[in-house]
Order: sequence, then structure tokens, then C-alpha cells
Amino acid sequence: MSILIRGGTVVSATGSALADVLVDGESVAALAVPSTPLAESWSAVAGTVIDATGKYVIPGGIDVHTHMELPFGGTFASDTFETGTRAAAWGGTTTIVDFAVQSKGASLLAGIEAWHAKADGNCAIDYGFHAIISDVNEAALKEMDAAVEAGVTSFKMFMAYPGVFYSTDGEIFLAMQKARANGAVIMMHAENGIAIDQLVAQALAEGRTDPVYHGLTRPPELEGEATSRAIQLAKVTGAPLYIVHLTASQALNAVTEARDGGQNVFAETCPQYLYLALDDLAKPDFEGAKYVASPPLRPREHTEALWKGLRTNDLSVISTDHCPFCFKDQKELGRGDFSKIPNGMPGVEHRMDLIYQGVAAGKISKERWVELCSTTPARMFGLYGRKGVIAPGADADIVVYDPDAHQTISAATHHMNVDYSAYEGMEITGRVDTVLSRGSVVIRDGEFHGKSGHGQFVRRGLSQYLV
Ligand code: URP
Ligand code: ZN
Ligand code: ZN
Repeated sequence: MSILIRGGTVVSATGSALADVLVDGESVAALAVPSTPLAESWSAVAGTVIDATGKYVIPGGIDVHTHMELPFGGTFASDTFETGTRAAAWGGTTTIVDFAVQSKGASLLAGIEAWHAKADGNCAIDYGFHAIISDVNEAALKEMDAAVEAGVTSFKMFMAYPGVFYSTDGEIFLAMQKARANGAVIMMHAENGIAIDQLVAQALAEGRTDPVYHGLTRPPELEGEATSRAIQLAKVTGAPLYIVHLTASQALNAVTEARDGGQNVFAETCPQYLYLALDDLAKPDFEGAKYVASPPLRPREHTEALWKGLRTNDLSVISTDHCPFCFKDQKELGRGDFSKIPNGMPGVEHRMDLIYQGVAAGKISKERWVELCSTTPARMFGLYGRKGVIAPGADADIVVYDPDAHQTISAATHHMNVDYSAYEGMEITGRVDTVLSRGSVVIRDGEFHGKSGHGQFVRRGLSQYLV
């Protein structure tokens, strides 16, 4: 079965050009200059022709930070692998990397197996896993080698959430030494959870219980401090370090300094930290609960620092940290006590569109959009070549994007299994037109044509940023 995507502008991380793209089976077969005899010969034989005139043809988005079905805060993230990957496809994301959780007292590999069981046969698009290490012990450290062999080549650790996922500096140090030895990347949730817990207890004791205090008890300095500490631990151990969901200029400064010093330190941010801010957490009538995530939304001045970091490449990836909880019954668990609001926000469906607003506003180029949302995530997490690029032999994960369309984001029209949108009513330019996942049409003409179980587990290699 061949598909010809004709007349579009193929946008890659390094440039853009008018080109026709021929897909054969699950892979990209070839690109050709439009209207040449070669390109015309494809029109005659292609089983399906997709007209991309006036549109961008980009490698499918890769969201390397999602939490489908995560058990957290006394409940579960409301998107399953089925609903979450379907929503991702609607938004032009064709691969997710989700986090398999090692439970306290359990094995790391058992956590990965449990995540396979949740995802297997249910995904509309391809998926991989990182592993969350929440119990560092001799067995778990050994299992990190087996995880890498099985294609789980990155491990998230937490300086936040004492009593849940938290690891001590000593435990982080040991896991970093292991990562240094086996080539894995350590991903860090960098907030000083021990100090934050004191601030949270003090706020609650003084009757400051509204959602905004979630933000006010997690000051940016404590993200900056934890980020610096993680960087120093990584320096001593020699481990590559990837800071997840970076929000604060203090943390960005620490990353920039480490990178300027030649250290293998990388960082991502998420759309919510570029568009939303602390005042959203302060919305009345408990509506601020919709915006509770950790690290929290910051005062507005941080968002401009993050856009600058995206331009200088000190922030090199945009993920979503998609971790949805419905307002009704889930966020509401924290009425009267902000510390009981499940932490996390929905976003997997809107990352490509939201970051495209940066292109429309002249903040980043369309090539940088592709780099941040697809190509660098692929390289960072050992997927590049197969994913993150439109080139002969690559998986035909392709999005046709209409840069001139207009849409309004709303919970009434989104496909995520969550009862609100953090961007309700936001009018945006650009829209996903067509989505292919490994050569199969998933989205076309405003309809979902995919199926659960089409998506396959992807064994990832080591990070392609490291020699
Ligand atoms: O609030 C958040 N970010 N929830 C998901 C878990 C995490 O820390 O990434
Ligand atoms: Zn986190
Ligand atoms: Zn997360």
C-alpha cells in the first residue's frame, strides 16, 4: 500500500523545501521535487494521494513525558493508553514515551511489565517507556541494566514528593553512577521536596488552603536549588542529566551554566509553563485546582525566560507532562486542602498547536518547532532515524499541518478523557490536517481512522546526544 503526500512544504529541523513524499507500507520510501517526472510517476501508482498544497509536512510529534493511568494523589490519571494515545494522534503526536513506575518495595522490571500490560494492544500510536525509580536498592540498581537492554534507556528520579517517589541524594548518586556505566539518561524532577513539605505544613496550619498556595509553597528558588544540586551530583558521577518540566528562571540559569561548562545536561519545558501562570492557580471558586501541577505555574516573568531558553537551546525539548485529572471528583479531592489536589494537567492533544503559536508569533521558526517537538526528543531518547525525521527508511509517522487554519481550544471538542481544558476558549492559528502512524492514516478529514492496538512498543536505544 503506497501513499503519496503531494505538494506540501516538508519542514525538518534543518530546513524546509517543497517536496512530495512517497510512503510504502510502514516507511518513507522517497522524497522528490514536485512536478518532476519522478514525482509525476508516483501519482500514477500511489494507492492514496493526499493533497498537502499550502500545508506543512512534518515528522510526527514525539511527546517524551506522559502519564497515562498514573496512580497518583489517591486516584488515577484519567486518560488510559487507549484514550490518551487517540487524543495524542488528534493533536499530531505519533509517539509517546510514558513513565513506568517502580512501586516502593517492588522491582523495577515488575513496574515496566505492569506498564506493558496497560499499554499492550491499546495504543493508537507507537509508545516507549522510561522507568521511574522510587526505591533505590541493590536489586533495582542491577535491574537498570536489564531495563536498558529491554529498550527502557532513561530513568526518572524525584527530589520532590517525600514518601511517594522521593529519593535521597545518596540514592540519586548511586543511580547516577549506574547510568554513567550503562549509558542511560537520568531524568530529574528537581524541586526540594523536603523544604516544600515544611512550607505546605505551615500554610495548612495557618488556614491557607486554596489552590494558589500550591504555587506559593513551592517557590522557584527551591526548583533552582534542586536543579543545581542535581547538576553537581551528575558532574561528580559523570551521568547525563535531563531536567524534566523546567519552569523557573533560577533552574534555567543553572542548566545554562552547566551546558556552557560542557556538561551533558539537558532540559525540557512544557506548554503550560509557556502560556499559563500563577494567576491561573489563583482563579476563584476552586477553579485554580485545574492548574495544580508540580512544579507549579510561575509568575509571568518566568515564561519569557523560558521562551529565551528555547531559542538558545538551553531548553531543547517540549513535552507535555500530560497527567490529567477530572475537575469533578478528582481535583475536588483537594477542596479545603490544596495538598490533596492530585498534581497534574492535561495537554497531550495540544502540544503541537500550542508551540506552533510561537511560530505564528515570530518567537521561533517552524524548523525550531519541529526540532523541539519531534527531532530532538527522538535524538535525546534513542529514537532518531526511525522517528523524528522524514527520510527514506524512517517510519512513516507524518503530520500534514495547515498553518492557516483557525480553531478554538475547548473541552467540548477535545478528545482527552478529562472534563476541562486548561486553555478553554483560546483561539489559535494552525491545525493538524492529516496524521499517519507507520504508514496508516489515523486522522483525515476531521475523522479518526486509527485503531487501538496499531501502536507498538518501541525499544529505544541510548541517547544519540552522547558519544
Ligand atoms: O504534577 C505533575 N507534574 N504530575 C505528574 C507527575 C510528575 O511529577 O511529573
Ligand atoms: Zn515530575
Ligand atoms: Zn511528569
